[in-house]
Parts: sequence; structure tokens; C-alpha cells
Amino acid sequence: MLRTLEAERARGRELFASAGSLEELEAANIAVLGRKSPLGEVQRALGALEEGQRRELGRAVNEARTELADAFEARRDALSVDVESALLAADAVDMTLPGRRRPDGSLHPLTVVEDEIVGLFLRLGYRVAEGPEIEDDWHNFQALNIPEDHPARTMKDSLYVSIPGHPELLLRTETSAVQIRTMLSQPPPVYIVAPGRVYRRETPDPTHLAVFHQVEALVVDEGITFADLKGTLEAMAKGLFGEDRRIRFTPSYFPFVEPGAQIGVTCFRCGGVGCPTCRSGWIELLGAGMVHPKVLENCGYDSERYTGFAFGLGIERVAILKYEIPDIRLLIEGDVRFLERFRAA
Ligand code: DAH
Repeated sequence: MLRTLEAERARGRELFASAGSLEELEAANIAVLGRKSPLGEVQRALGALEEGQRRELGRAVNEARTELADAFEARRDALSVDVESALLAADAVDMTLPGRRRPDGSLHPLTVVEDEIVGLFLRLGYRVAEGPEIEDDWHNFQALNIPEDHPARTMKDSLYVSIPGHPELLLRTETSAVQIRTMLSQPPPVYIVAPGRVYRRETPDPTHLAVFHQVEALVVDEGITFADLKGTLEAMAKGLFGEDRRIRFTPSYFPFVEPGAQIGVTCFRCGGVGCPTCRSGWIELLGAGMVHPKVLENCGYDSERYTGFAFGLGIERVAILKYEIPDIRLLIEGDVRFLERFRAA
């Protein structure tokens, strides 16, 4: 039995030392120190021996166990360190590698223009108002004094939303509907700008989009006159296109204002003498007017006491003029080659 013991010591040492992984080491442990191992058998046989022999052999078994257990632990520690270093090595970062650079993003030209317009009015003390993109017939048309038979109401221009039970819902055709929602939600005075998306039944071409953006402005207070509208629009034109801009008013018709006007600015390319961009020296920019008394009344405002002005302009239109963009569709196509031009903007 002593011989078996010696052989097991040698075999155990050898097995532990040659285990290449923690799994192999665990298998070796069972084979060498487990209950069914030769060592286990020797230990079980001790009981049958007589006192003197049992003590001697018992000591030898214990020595062998202690030695092998130590060898097992030493190997386990060594293998664990290996596993850890392998993990660390796999996870290593080469600090000398240059980083991967992502190209800088930039604001979309429409966002730039919208921020600029809204910023101008915030500095004048206006507040930003918002309204829903799905509107009902009353806010989008009736309250704005757009009669039943007005051409703007026909299916030709408007996109109706088909929701059962709500036949009057449509995608708003102009931000003017926000005028109504604002007046209904607060008493005068009102000084607001309302940027937002609008929808028309159009086939996109170089100068038209079916979905585009407007900024609406509404002022209602005591004693507001056409002169206030002129001064405000002049400040806006100079702010957007430069101090040299002059503006002109041409009579026009919008059901929700009276009088209504179309506003042009002197061409920023030729300064107003006439060039291929403007032809006449003037560029038509927006619609405006004095808020129609009926619109004020529709919102519960006293039209004897309060007057106001309103205007609405297309953000895409300002953008194509300001940046000399040849085709309005470029603004919605998301082509990076086009958008990169605005990186510094
Ligand atoms: N809503 C008009 C349009 O989409 C623009 C407009 C004209 C807005 C006159 C106004 C206004 O507030 O007074 O064409």
C-alpha cells in the first residue's frame, strides 16, 4: 500500500502540473484526491489494518493528501492568473492608435433659418406658440374667415385625414390656425410667433413642396396699426437679409386680414435693379395684413377695443433665397453633399 501511495503522489503531482486549464485541473483533482481515487481506496482500507500499521500508513496518507492538495492549489492559482491575463490581453487598448473621427454634424439649413427668424422675434419680446398639425375645419378655415366656398377649402389644396367619425380633420394648410388657438387660450395682448409644418396637396417641383414650414406671427393689442406691421416687417427683412433691404407692400387678399398685403424685399443679389434671380428687383416674401375683425370676434376678442396684425412666411422660401438654392427639393432630400455646405452655418 505504501507503494501505491508513492505512485499516487507522483501521478498526482504530474497530473496537476500538466493540467492546462481549470477544467482539466478539476478532473485531475477528482482522479487524484476524490473518494474513488486510489488514494481514497487506500484510506478506506486503513480501517482493516492493525493499530501500528494503521497509524503509520495513516500518517503517510495524510502527508500525501496535504502535499497533493497544496500542489492542486498552487496550480489552480497559476491557472487563474493565466485566465485573468488572457482576459486582460483580449481587452487591451492600444493607446497609440489614433481615434476614429466622426465628421461634425451641423444644423439643417431650415433649422438655421427658423432659429434665426424666431430669435429675431424673441428679442422683440414675442413668445413662441404651437398648434397641432392635424387641425379641424373650424380652426383651419371657419374661424379664419375662410368661407365654405373659398377655393382653399377644396380637396385640391387640402389633405384630409380619414378618421371614422371625424370627417372635418385635415393636415393644417397654414400655420394661421395657431392664431385662433392662441387667441382662444388667452386674453389680449398677444405677441406670438408660431413656427411649424404645413401640408398642401401639391406635387413637389423646383419651387413647391407638399410638406413645408411656415412662421406665423400675430400681434393683438390696443392701438396696433398698419405702421406697426410695416416697422416690424422692415426690421425682420433687415435682420434676415441685411441692413440695405427695403420692403414694399402690394395689395393682396387673405380672408383673415383686412387690408391684406403681399410683401416684397429688394433683391439681395442685385440690390433692387433687376437680375436673373429677381427679374424686377423685388422678391415676394410673405403675406400679411391687419387681423380681420371677424377673426377677433370668432375668438371672443372685442374688435372695437383691440386691433392686430398678422403675417406668415415660408421658411423654405427664405432659405432658398438666402442661400441661393436652385431647387427647393434639395432641402428635404437629405443629400450630405448638399447639407455639408451648411456645416459652418
Ligand atoms: N397663411 C398664408 C399662406 O399660407 C400666409 C399669410 C398671409 C399669413 C397673410 C398671415 C397673413 O398671417 O396675414 O399663404
